[in-house]
Amino acid sequence: MKNLPLHIAFIMDGNGRWAKNQGKPRSAGHREGLTAAKRIVKAASDIGIKYITLYAFSTENWKRTEDEVAFLMNLISRHLRKEMDFYVKNRIRVVHSGDFSALPDSVKYEITSVTEATAGFKGTAVNLAINYGGRDEIIRAVNRIYDKSPEKRSPVTEQEISENLDCADFPDPDLIVRSAGERRLSNFLLWQCAYAEFYYSDKLWPDWDKSDLDAAVSSYRNRNRKFGGLNE
Ligand code: FPP
Repeated sequence: MKNLPLHIAFIMDGNGRWAKNQGKPRSAGHREGLTAAKRIVKAASDIGIKYITLYAFSTENWKRTEDEVAFLMNLISRHLRKEMDFYVKNRIRVVHSGDFSALPDSVKYEITSVTEATAGFKGTAVNLAINYGGRDEIIRAVNRIYDKSPEKRSPVTEQEISENLDCADFPDPDLIVRSAGERRLSNFLLWQCAYAEFYYSDKLWPDWDKSDLDAAVSSYRNRNRKFGGLNE
């Protein structure tokens, strides 16, 4: 397929509303949202999308109730343990973005296991943004630059920041997708979004399937990207 986005990043919104509509607790929405995430990763990988980022937990999500935070952390660590086979079978390389240091030990352990086990895969790469914030990541990148060269006096360059982001081997996202009718960036991939295209859908994330992914990709393929220049 021509003009496929190389990297799609998803803001998976609407789990809570989905649960409410079904008369279920918010946790049921997150569980269903995770099933949708797996469905979309598989569908994206099948159509040849090389890089996927999923916004699973933001630096702001700690403001939710203690119960919801604990549920999400538990859901993430159980998913990584249970779905190791899914990633291995589909030759998917898993990486993590975000502040690793502040995560619960169980999540740290599972992230380390799955990223190490899949590090050699050359298929689709999935970046799990967990305890991720765009501003936080930029600060981390700048601090990495100074940690590597404490004596540094020269001005920090754009290239240095790009090379020191959490997931420096990922290209910038071509397409940012947000579900559930919201049109905000919510501190997601702030540096990398400079020239991203955006796609919004009213559908709640747990209801997403391949047809929604296809609609997002097809919208992207019809766009004329100029990167600040003139039409080609
Ligand atoms: C936003 O919906 C969703 C989240 C904060 C959590 C998303 C996490 C998952 C789907 C689990 C994915 C995990 C992996 C490892 C891929 P919301 O709760 O803000 O929904 P609402 O706005 O309707 O309340």
